[in-house]
Amino acid sequence: MKKPIKKRVGFLGLGKMGGILLRALFEQKILLPKHATATVRHTERAQALSQELGIPVTTDNVEAARRSDLILICVKPNTVSEVLEKISPEMSPDKLLISIAASVPTPYIEGILSAEIPVVRAMPNTPCEVGCGMTGICSGRFADDSHLEMAEALFKAVGMTVVLDEKHMDAVTGLSASGPAFVYIILESLAEAGVKVGLSRDIATLLVAQTVQGAARVALQTGRHPALLKDAVTTPAGCTIDGILELEEGKLRVTLIKAVVKATERAKELLLAD
Ligand SMILES: NC(=O)c1ccc[n+]([C@@H]2O[C@H](COP(=O)([O-])OP(=O)(O)OC[C@H]3O[C@@H](n4cnc5c(N)ncnc54)[C@H](OP(=O)(O)O)[C@@H]3O)[C@@H](O)[C@H]2O)c1
Repeated sequence: MKKPIKKRVGFLGLGKMGGILLRALFEQKILLPKHATATVRHTERAQALSQELGIPVTTDNVEAARRSDLILICVKPNTVSEVLEKISPEMSPDKLLISIAASVPTPYIEGILSAEIPVVRAMPNTPCEVGCGMTGICSGRFADDSHLEMAEALFKAVGMTVVLDEKHMDAVTGLSASGPAFVYIILESLAEAGVKVGLSRDIATLLVAQTVQGAARVALQTGRHPALLKDAVTTPAGCTIDGILELEEGKLRVTLIKAVVKATERAKELLLAD
């Protein structure tokens, strides 16, 4: 049984990822609406979200930070400094700031905040929406074990977490935060293949999505190397090996590796991007 968070939580930025996290935490009853507040850039969006979610949603980051013990920074990387400069006077060492912004290191955040504020950096992904997310977490200079535990509890409510050194956070961004998009392309392509061999799109999509989920669960639950799991499917002179030959010829492996390397490199630049 997951314990509800008693702290007042402020989501600064309630777009795709902030919205997914907030809604998932509400659904899991980890966060109660009476403890939540949020901000966005546009007034009309604030009003619509406030009505939909039944919580205060405004454009006033300072007020939201003032009335929160845990502040989640969910704006785009290039908006982080603007928001931090505004809320800095409202921050104190008894509060916790968690940033999910890609590319923004904790020393950068600590450098903008005036006091020794506990900061945790987290990199979740969109499957948090269905409680199956993957979040990499690292702590800043002034965050202790209790802050890390708090952040872990929050993201464990919507999936799995891993704590790692900050130097790996761009790699987490390129692999598990961008990863769902890569997997969706594989999923879509396999479903297309199903249509090509005569299946309806609905059935093909179901077959593929459950196959991807099943294969992932086997890898997670058994801990076996993916190559061994692949071998178990690949009968000598059977059908699978013919398919694998096509994948190798199409350079699927090297293409996927390059995609993650590129996404990781891009994650290092986002803070400075327009
Ligand atoms: N999407 C992902 O898969 C993912 C995964 C992991 C981490 N992240 C990180 O999550 C952060 C948000 O990404 P996203 O995809 O959710 O972007 P998004 O959908 O564009 O959301 C950004 C939100 O920030 C709000 N905002 C902009 N300026 C603001 C300000 N000054 N004060 C308060 N709110 C402001 C926007 O308000 P309006 O709605 O009014 O425009 C919007 O709600 C990024 O730093 C990203 O690196 C994203």
